[in-house]
Amino acid sequence: MKSMMKISPKTTHIAVCGLGYVGFPVALLFAKAGFQVTGVDVNEEKIRKINRGGNPIEGKEPGLKELIGQVKKTGRFQATTDPASYQEAQVIIIAVETPVEEETHEPAYRALKSALRDIGQNLSAGRSKEVLIIVESTIAPQTMAKVVQPILEAESGLQMGPDFLLANCPERLMPGHLIENITNYNRVIGAPDQRTADLAKSLYKYIVKGKLETTDWVTAEIVKAGENAYRDVQIAFANEMALLCEALGANVWEVRRLINECKRRGETRFEALRQMHFPGAGVGGHCLPKDSWLLVYGARESIEPN
Ligand SMILES: NC(=O)c1ccc[n+]([C@@H]2O[C@H](COP(=O)([O-])OP(=O)(O)OC[C@H]3O[C@@H](n4cnc5c(N)ncnc54)[C@H](O)[C@@H]3O)[C@@H](O)[C@H]2O)c1
Repeated sequence: MKSMMKISPKTTHIAVCGLGYVGFPVALLFAKAGFQVTGVDVNEEKIRKINRGGNPIEGKEPGLKELIGQVKKTGRFQATTDPASYQEAQVIIIAVETPVEEETHEPAYRALKSALRDIGQNLSAGRSKEVLIIVESTIAPQTMAKVVQPILEAESGLQMGPDFLLANCPERLMPGHLIENITNYNRVIGAPDQRTADLAKSLYKYIVKGKLETTDWVTAEIVKAGENAYRDVQIAFANEMALLCEALGANVWEVRRLINECKRRGETRFEALRQMHFPGAGVGGHCLPKDSWLLVYGARESIEPN
């Protein structure tokens, strides 16, 4: 048994795997909170840009430029393409892309599997301290048990539990609000045991002001894919209603207003309210078009993503 880890900015070195919309701001926020952080990415150009103090994130991101400047002054964040950096870390956060295949809509886990292989091969058996690995990427239900744990164990020759701890803490941010969302959204932590849940919670407390709720892996996986699928369905419903109203010669805005008025006087119970969305241009963005497919895929009996 390794010696028990305690999360502390002074002693806990964090590695963040994947420096995109999720990984980059998460790495900076932990560095700002006092942790030594190493960001690992396969994109060499991105790494060069980050190490020059540049911003690899496209679009307006309030607070990000200032955060990059603050963290640069501390010297607590470096970026690299070298997976050997995982050897130094007591916490490894995975934030690589998890798209779905264009044709089949099955999860395309090439980046995730490659990251897991790199991490597994660098989980040295000679470590004296525990290591906590956290998946922040959005994954299909059962991916932690059927993909993440088996690859890490096979590549490292180690065992989850005695040798390393494994949690799922899905990210909820939206581009355009990265820093604000990471800081203020409530988060769900999926863990197979209380010790892992407690450790992950004590880590996220340093950057998240929202509520941190702990549960099991599959619940956390379903919650993340499910919350985006729910949104997807709500948007699709409003858009279908717009088409229907147009075909029937009705005004969808008036229809929506009157549907949402369907409530008893003084009703405040959330579940008693109709909350039809505004119709719009359709579903887009980084996550909504794919996460419903991840949810459905995870509901199948056997999960063997590419
Ligand atoms: N972008 C969002 O709005 C958002 C919100 C919530 C959750 N998520 C989820 O978070 C995850 C990451 O999303 P993102 O938008 O940050 O993706 P992204 O494409 O912006 O960034 C992913 C990064 O991972 C790197 N990468 C790929 N393979 C790697 C490997 N083997 N080792 C190291 N780095 C590797 C890529 O080069 C890239 O820089 C996805 O699962 C996504 O669904 C995204």
